[in-house]
Formats: sequence, structure tokens, C-alpha cells
Amino acid sequence: MQEIKFYSGEDLPLELHKVRIVQKLFLVPIERRLEALYEGGFNTFRLSTKDVFLDMLTDSGTNAMSDNQLAAMMQADDAYAGSQSFERLQKAVKDVLGKEYLLPVHQGRAAESLISIAYVKKGSLVPMNYHFTTALAHITQNGGKIAELLYDEAYVINSDHPFKGNMNIEKLEETIKSHGATNIPFIRMEASTNLIGGQPFSVQNLRDVRAMADKYGIRLVLDCSLLGENAYLVMKREEEFKNSSMEIIMKEMTALADLCYFSARKISSSRGGGMCTDKMEIFRELEALVPLYEGFLTYGGISIREIEAMAVGLYETQDESMICQSPNFIKYLVGALDKKGIPVIKPAGVLGAHVDAMQVCAHIPQTEYPAGALAAALFLISGVRGMERGSISNQRDEYGNETYADMELLRLAVPRRVFTLSQIKYVEDRLHWLYDNRKLIGGLRFVYEPPVLRFFMGGLEPTSDWPQKLMAKFKKDFGESL
Ligand code: F0G
Repeated sequence: MQEIKFYSGEDLPLELHKVRIVQKLFLVPIERRLEALYEGGFNTFRLSTKDVFLDMLTDSGTNAMSDNQLAAMMQADDAYAGSQSFERLQKAVKDVLGKEYLLPVHQGRAAESLISIAYVKKGSLVPMNYHFTTALAHITQNGGKIAELLYDEAYVINSDHPFKGNMNIEKLEETIKSHGATNIPFIRMEASTNLIGGQPFSVQNLRDVRAMADKYGIRLVLDCSLLGENAYLVMKREEEFKNSSMEIIMKEMTALADLCYFSARKISSSRGGGMCTDKMEIFRELEALVPLYEGFLTYGGISIREIEAMAVGLYETQDESMICQSPNFIKYLVGALDKKGIPVIKPAGVLGAHVDAMQVCAHIPQTEYPAGALAAALFLISGVRGMERGSISNQRDEYGNETYADMELLRLAVPRRVFTLSQIKYVEDRLHWLYDNRKLIGGLRFVYEPPVLRFFMGGLEPTSDWPQKLMAKFKKDFGESL
């Protein structure tokens, strides 16, 4: 494990890279930001980056790419079939994830779709540590249901539990017994459990899940989209692995799964996705679906240039000096917000800092989407674009009723190697002001609600003129400042 201490004693994340290509950002006046919110239905997904200053929507496809990734893209072997670029990717998957057979898909949710088409039917139940939006949508589209089996500690905002993403093994066995192993096509484990604040599971927990899968003869599927960061936190937090390399930890985890899939937009700082396995029968069950839905088996709907970037990016996840960057910046931001009394998920996880909108906006009922309101309010007063991870991101139940989320979070993603420390300090500063003025934030209601994955394109409106009042207070306090 690498560590860099400051003489001053300050605990600061240090950038272990230098910036050689930059993109200009725009911090537009608050009046324009207010207009942009109305134009985008108070949904941060629908904002244009022309109006966004710091884009903390996601790390998906927005991690900084390395010089070696860009260089590799120039040697792409564009062939419909049998591309050498794909062979390089196969080798990278074997070297980094330890799996022999690779099926490429255009992004992570395409793997979720194909896995669900292949294995899920009416009456199926998929136990998982926690759902991810697109994984759940594909399972339900194919007639299945899910069971979320975290320990209670996972839902505690202010915690020091190192592995809140662990699956509750006792509940897993109960679920298998009560539902019947034959109705469980697979168990899904998600590395760095996204929707509860990017919280990791331990290798020991994954071993326990594996033992249960073996006992009842059920497949184990591992969502590896955030595997690198989960492995990094295993190195930091799990005694057995404190002297292990990233390479060893990642392989230890993937070796426990029958089938791994990933969003390359996340794991390898590129675009694309994939599914990989050592089992020929699983490979065969999924193989025919790839050309049907994605593209030929040696590109799977991904540009060949991105396949080259993916191969190099996969190797780079083994580099501790790269993989530590996002979690260390998040740790800094979470620590800074916590010191100011702003409720934020602890311990710091991966992907981003997660502000607890249920507490910040305690005056807004869940029916008026406190996390969506907080995301809109933060954008208004700062140009920082976060993402709602609460009830708007939930789907309605089979009878069309709202299902309120366990947690109402504003996620502020910190993509790998994108932001500087002073930008992170700006986020901290504006959130501090917003927290002090939180009573001015009001609720939202839907005016347009798509039937599936409504959070992406849904349109909302404020329930009162609170955005105008918040803007007036901002102008009073900040004067001419942007
Ligand atoms: N699994 C996890 C854990 C994810 O975080 C994502 C995407 C996917 C699967 C789906 O992959 O986007 O390539 O289709 N997460 C993004 C996010 C969208 O912002 O958290 P995809």
C-alpha cells in the first residue's frame, strides 16, 4: 500500500499525474442557470454542459483517459470480424479479470439485458446486495423480481462500517430456502454498491456468498463496473489484503464469480462493456445474443478505438497510483462536508460523495423528492451538476404505485483524475452556503413521467417559487460573484 504524508499533518489527496490536455469550462450567471433548470425540467440529466460548471453527474464515460489509452486508440485494427484489437482486449481481460472467455457489449446495461434475457423468466427471483437502476429494470422487464439483502448497517448514514456493501448471508440462505433454488437463476453481487453511496463489500463476504451459491447450485454473477475501487478499499480496509497488490485482489474477487460483467465506461475509463467467464456453458448460453442485439462477437457494438482504450484502461486499474485518485478525493470531500456538519454518507465510498437529502431537506416530504430538489438547488447556486439518487431514480411497483427509496441522496460524482482540489473546495464552499440556507429549498412534482427509467428524461417543476427566492438570497450574499 502506498502512502504520502504531508509534513504539515494535513490529510490531502495528492494528484499523481500531470495535466496535458484541458477543456475550458463555463460558469454562467445564476439567472441563466435558473432558465436552464426550467428548460431541463429540473432534471440534471437534461442540462447542457454549456450551462454546467463542474459536471459531477457521473463517472460513467467521464473519467480522464491516459496518454497510453489515447495512443493505443491510434492503432485500432478496424475489422468487422477477427480484429487484433479484440484479441488485445481478450488478453487484458484474462490478465486483469482472470477470465478466459469474453463477450463484448456496447455498455454495462447491455450485459444486464442479455443476462436477464438468458436467465430470468416469470417467477424468477434474483438476490443481490442492492439493486442498480438498469439491472433492476432489465430483470423486471423479463418478468423477474429482486431481493435486496444488505445488513441493516448499510442504511446507516453516519457509520464507520468498512463494508456496507456486504450481503447478509443469513438472509441469503433464508431467501434461497423460501423461494426455492430452482427459481433463482443467479445471485448478483455489485462491487462498490452504487446506490447506497458507493460502498464496498469484503472479499470474505464474497467468499461466503460463493459458499452459499455452491451449497444450492446457483450461479454467482459479479457486477465489476466499480471493481477497481472496491479492490482498492479492500486493500485499505481488509486486514488480510493490506499487503496485496491490486492485481491479486481483483483476481481474487473475480475468481469467485461464475460470470462477471462490467461497464467499461467505469472500470476502464473508456466506453463499452463486456461479460466474461471461465465456463464454456455460460459463454455458449450468452454467445448467440451478442450478434443479435449488440454486434459481431469481436466488437459488440463498441468502436474499435474504444476497444483499444479499454484494454489499456483495464491494465491501468491495477495501478494503485491511478485507482486511489477518485476514492482519495472523495474521502477529502466527505471529510470536509462532515466537518461543517453537512450530513453525508460515511465512511467515504467510491464514485462520489453522497449528501443525505432526507436530513438536509427534512422539511420536504418524500412525495416531493427531496434529493431531486437538492440537486436542482445546488446546480442553481453553483453550476455544479450532481445526480438524484432517491425516489425519482426508483421505479413504480407493478401496480403503478410510487416506491419511495430507502435513501434520498444527492450524489456528487468525482470521476478519476478530472477535478483539481480547488474545484473540490468550491463544491464544499457552495454546499456549505446551501446547507445554511436549506430552508429556502422547496419540493418538486412530475409534469412528464416516462414509464421506464423515469429519472433519465423525466420532467419536473418546483411546487412553489422557491428557486426565485433562493436566487435572490444568493445574489444578496454573493453580490456580483458568479
Ligand atoms: N452497474 C453499475 C454498478 C453501474 O454503476 C452502472 C452504471 C451500470 C452497471 C450500467 O452501466 O451505464 O455502462 O450501461 N452507472 C452509471 C452511474 C450510469 O452514473 O452510476 P452502463
